[in-house]
Amino acid sequence: MAGLLEDRIAFVTGAGSGIGRATAIAMAQEGAKVAVTDLVAEWAEETARMIIDAGGEAYAVQLDVRDRAAVDAAVDAVVARWGRLDCAFNNAGVSIETMMTPWGDNDAFEGTFAANCDGVMYCIAAEARHMAKAKRGAIVNTASVAGMSGLSGPGYCGSKHAVVGFTRSAAMRWAADNVRVNAVCPGAIVTPMTDVTTSDPQAAAFMAQMHPMNRMGEAREVADAVVFLCSDKASFITGHPLAVDGGFLAR
Ligand SMILES: NC(=O)c1ccc[n+]([C@@H]2O[C@H](COP(=O)([O-])OP(=O)(O)OC[C@H]3O[C@@H](n4cnc5c(N)ncnc54)[C@H](O)[C@@H]3O)[C@@H](O)[C@H]2O)c1
Repeated sequence: MAGLLEDRIAFVTGAGSGIGRATAIAMAQEGAKVAVTDLVAEWAEETARMIIDAGGEAYAVQLDVRDRAAVDAAVDAVVARWGRLDCAFNNAGVSIETMMTPWGDNDAFEGTFAANCDGVMYCIAAEARHMAKAKRGAIVNTASVAGMSGLSGPGYCGSKHAVVGFTRSAAMRWAADNVRVNAVCPGAIVTPMTDVTTSDPQAAAFMAQMHPMNRMGEAREVADAVVFLCSDKASFITGHPLAVDGGFLAR
């Protein structure tokens, strides 16, 4: 049986770890060829190797999404190599603020916005110009439940609200070109980003109980939502921030 993304060309940022890695692998399992990008070259290479070893098609690229010229070049390179770009997952992000960070700390704020906002905006712009020409494409951005609530510090919370805004704005801009733009809003997911918290059993239990399903999510559960949004099964869905949060936002 053909996969949901059979013969699609996909581009994933932050694909060397956590949600990005799980999604790159899930996309490949559904039949996509995947450009695996990450700030850390070795992590991207490891993900690409995992896909190739499982019989899929992928290549790795070191990419800092804060660098607009590098983002343009990486997206152009996908199209040069495979002829088009069908799906993109703009997922790279950081969570710098901690409980100890003063509200509005300048470094934490700017560092977070550079990766989480500038990066996503550069990626959407680079990807949509190819997709609009082809009159087909699906982009998914990683926001967060913090993009739909007051959770966390101003850098992270504000940056993820911005990602939801970029998603809606881009969805409007390219809807007539048949380019769909959506976001996923994960709750707390077990990844290296949450390791610091979850390595403490009390903190892990606290994180779990924030979700009505009383557990944290798995990266694969976010990946499945991204695959769906990139697939033709979501052909009339655009501009939507999809919660993948065990009921967090429904409380
Ligand atoms: N884990 C969670 O609980 C959770 C919840 C909601 C949203 N998110 C979001 O999901 C996304 C992925 O997070 P994760 O939990 O998988 O974290 P992670 O730390 O495991 O992975 C993030 C990846 O992004 C890469 N990255 C960071 N800055 C980059 C940059 N400037 N350019 C390119 N790559 C960069 C890192 O190298 C890393 O591989 C992030 O946007 C995060 O904000 C995570």
